[in-house]
Amino acid sequence: MSIKAPIDYAVPPQKDCARYKMHKYWAAKPWYVVAEYIKHFTREGEIVLDPFCGSGVVGCEALIHRRKAVLNDLNPMAVFIAGNTCRSPVDLKKFDAEFIKIKTKLKSNIMDMYRLAEPCPECGAPLYSKHVVRGPSLKGHWIVEARCSKGHGRSGHIRRLLLPEEKAFIETVESREIPYWVPQNTFPDGRETMRLKKDGINTVDQLFTQRNLIALSLIYHEIQKIMDENIRELMLLAFSNTLLHVSKLKSETLRPMSANSYYCMDDWIEENVWDRFENRVKWHWGVCQGKEETNRLIGDYFNQTENFDGLLNGKTFMKLNTKAQNLSDIPDESIDYCFTDPPYGGSIQYFELTYLWRSWLDMSHEFIADEITVNDFQGKKENSFEKMLTEAFCEIYKFE
Ligand SMILES: C[S@@+](CC[C@H](N)C(=O)[O-])C[C@H]1O[C@@H](n2cnc3c(N)ncnc32)[C@H](O)[C@@H]1O
Ligand SMILES: [Zn+2]
Repeated sequence: MSIKAPIDYAVPPQKDCARYKMHKYWAAKPWYVVAEYIKHFTREGEIVLDPFCGSGVVGCEALIHRRKAVLNDLNPMAVFIAGNTCRSPVDLKKFDAEFIKIKTKLKSNIMDMYRLAEPCPECGAPLYSKHVVRGPSLKGHWIVEARCSKGHGRSGHIRRLLLPEEKAFIETVESREIPYWVPQNTFPDGRETMRLKKDGINTVDQLFTQRNLIALSLIYHEIQKIMDENIRELMLLAFSNTLLHVSKLKSETLRPMSANSYYCMDDWIEENVWDRFENRVKWHWGVCQGKEETNRLIGDYFNQTENFDGLLNGKTFMKLNTKAQNLSDIPDESIDYCFTDPPYGGSIQYFELTYLWRSWLDMSHEFIADEITVNDFQGKKENSFEKMLTEAFCEIYKFE
């Protein structure tokens, strides 16, 4: 392994693809650039390492081009996304069958919580809110956006003020108890989480309405019943990528966390949880599409191992969840090529921003001390960022 100069030709931009759209993450590298580097600097069967793997673009492109991949990230959420992005082949019939079970059990119950009093004025079909716009500037006159299944309204959307009886119905739903577990972890104090706290949001559940928490708890509870671990993880991937959309962080003009930040707009929207979950499983950029793509491109080349020896004996993929400053599971002089994209100072607070997902997925938060970042709340200034990053690079050099 050695430090190589960048490829000296421009890689023409290519389209986004479904495999990297299954779950939000920040600063994912363009897959077509990563692929060129891997093809240029390695041969088939060689081992590629990314010690700061994030959502796993490097590992997935390595596998597609028949190179072995070792992916590491300190944050368990990143390792979860990366592992599920790379896993192949996935039995999509089985995945669909599990989704149908959840749908049969829950869809109509959940949709009933979003049903509007007045049907479609043109065809009389029942209407369900797609989202409700709430917030102080509306002075209590909430707006509802619904979709008629027959396409009536403006481009199939019906937008009007929420009727008083519909608002009263929401209040009845909101007085119900949440049937199953939801996370109530207190957000740690931090650069990003303080924005939430200023808006009165101290715990993870407070980011959602009671109606949405009821729906989320029902779906999460059903997902836990899936026996096949791989299928359950993929369903959780779709669930976790539903969360930001159905939280109070979403507004009609701002995608949640698009500014790498927990930013609550004054006027926000309450999305329909079932619609969004189904969308993340089945529709555009959903898990089904993403896994169809990796099934086709990686096929059965993906073969996971728990230890490095496996890579020397026919296995092709290993994931680690530790600090890049100490990668003792990787032997010295064993890596052919390292492509990595470490944190950029404190510009994206990965620990804080993923707290919401990790709380729902019951993952550890106990790694904050080792995160390489700049953050006053963690007592990390530029000099400690530089020190930790240098330690990581020294560790990576051992594999040369
Ligand atoms: C810029 S992102 C990588 C994004 C990635 N290139 C992708 O395509 O998604 C940097 C990553 O470094 C991780 N990280 C921060 N401190 C770390 C450490 N000490 N060891 C390993 N990973 C760390 C963060 O969790 C984050 O996922
Ligand atoms: Zn209609």
